[in-house]
Amino acid sequence: MNTGESSATAASASDLPQKRDWRFILIAIVSGLGGLLFGYDTGVVAGVVLFLPNVFHFGASMNGLFVAIALAAAAFGAAFAGALSDAFGRRSVLMVTAVLFVAGAMLAAIAWSVPILFLGRAMVGAAIGVSSMITPLYLSEIAAAHWRGAIVTINQFYITVGIFVSYIADYLLSGFTDGWRWMLGLGIIPGVILLIGMTILPESPRWLSGRGLVMRAEAALRFLRNQLDVSVELGALRRDVVEGTRLAAPWSLLFEHKMRRPLIVGIGLAIFQQITGINAVLYFAPSIFQAAGLSSTSVSILATVGIGAVNVVMTAVAMRLLDSSGRRRLLLWGLWGMLVSLAIIGVGFMVQLHGALAYVIVTMVAVFVAFFAIGLGPIFWLLISEIFPLAIRGRAMSIATVANWVSNMVITGIFLNLLLAIGRGPTFLLYAGMTVLAILFTLWIVPETKGRTLEEIENNLDVADQKPVSYP
Ligand code: BGC
Repeated sequence: MNTGESSATAASASDLPQKRDWRFILIAIVSGLGGLLFGYDTGVVAGVVLFLPNVFHFGASMNGLFVAIALAAAAFGAAFAGALSDAFGRRSVLMVTAVLFVAGAMLAAIAWSVPILFLGRAMVGAAIGVSSMITPLYLSEIAAAHWRGAIVTINQFYITVGIFVSYIADYLLSGFTDGWRWMLGLGIIPGVILLIGMTILPESPRWLSGRGLVMRAEAALRFLRNQLDVSVELGALRRDVVEGTRLAAPWSLLFEHKMRRPLIVGIGLAIFQQITGINAVLYFAPSIFQAAGLSSTSVSILATVGIGAVNVVMTAVAMRLLDSSGRRRLLLWGLWGMLVSLAIIGVGFMVQLHGALAYVIVTMVAVFVAFFAIGLGPIFWLLISEIFPLAIRGRAMSIATVANWVSNMVITGIFLNLLLAIGRGPTFLLYAGMTVLAILFTLWIVPETKGRTLEEIENNLDVADQKPVSYP
């Protein structure tokens, strides 16, 4: 246990909200919908691309472009999301994003030509990029320190639910002529709920306080904590704020010494989250299983649905553990598990285990996804919502989020070529090698943020002794 943690526990005890309050549950449900759309819209393309060769006469490269356009647009959206949310507020930007989700999904679903289809997907992609960073940011800023890990991970939980639902939708709708339109159009529903729900929810009290809007920050806290006297928490927020000026901090703050460690952690984890292969596995699971010897397509799809379920369940487990075990410890456990499973998959493909290969690969892919889900999956998004100073939090999160989307695009874009060039076994061993680097990186620089308020993290992140002493 480090010293910062015990003082934080005392400091944040008074701002513990009532866990079962309906308002907080509403917040968790509604604001997490951005995550659901993220997961659904990235997952559903696997089913859509099967239709496009017939409908629009797409070849492999046009299909590839169709997939890549949403990822590129997500990187683009994420690049602007931070500055917009620092300037206009987290809630307002989330509401505009909901409109973009709905409009893009509608356009893609009714698309009568290729440019309209691509435009719709680009709009949805930009919305995914924006919400992928604003949702954890908003959740982190409204949560009290003691259970911030669980609250922010609601976002990742929804991402996995979205991916899971997209697998089911693909499975159920693939037999219909216009199935692809329904696959793309279903995203309209959570988009509308997100929009309506956000009209009820308050703006982030931390953002309001950072803007000098103290009365509104107080009202937001009263709503969130369901109590009239929020003076202790409000006082703590205000102490951290040189009124009205904090969120107008210049971009040059990014280059100050105290930003070095958080930026390295944020960008590093963004890249490691992708280059260790999660989306190569999730996007291409059915073909990986077929290559391992699962002969029937429907069994491969069923196995993929199973992987989606493992992802959801283990993310729920992570939500329970993050605030007790701590971020760093779970991250390391998760990475070790990913390393072992990737190595077995790689070696399995190389030695060709004959009959047993399919079972080994399906099991190890499930193990890999499970360890990603308790570690690198949620913890990347959680840490980037915690480690940057309020004055520049949105913009710094943007940088890490763009790094994540660009890495995602590169990794999934080159996966098939990599298989052709070096073969399946070495490809997975390469991901295992990247996981070794991720472990070293975590041991070197990732801080523990459990139980500390965002203000305490901001004031102490730079201090070397904030590193916890316990290792798995
Ligand atoms: C990642 C996504 C990934 C998902 C899988 C997220 O944390 O950012 O790229 O598809 O987890 O659960």
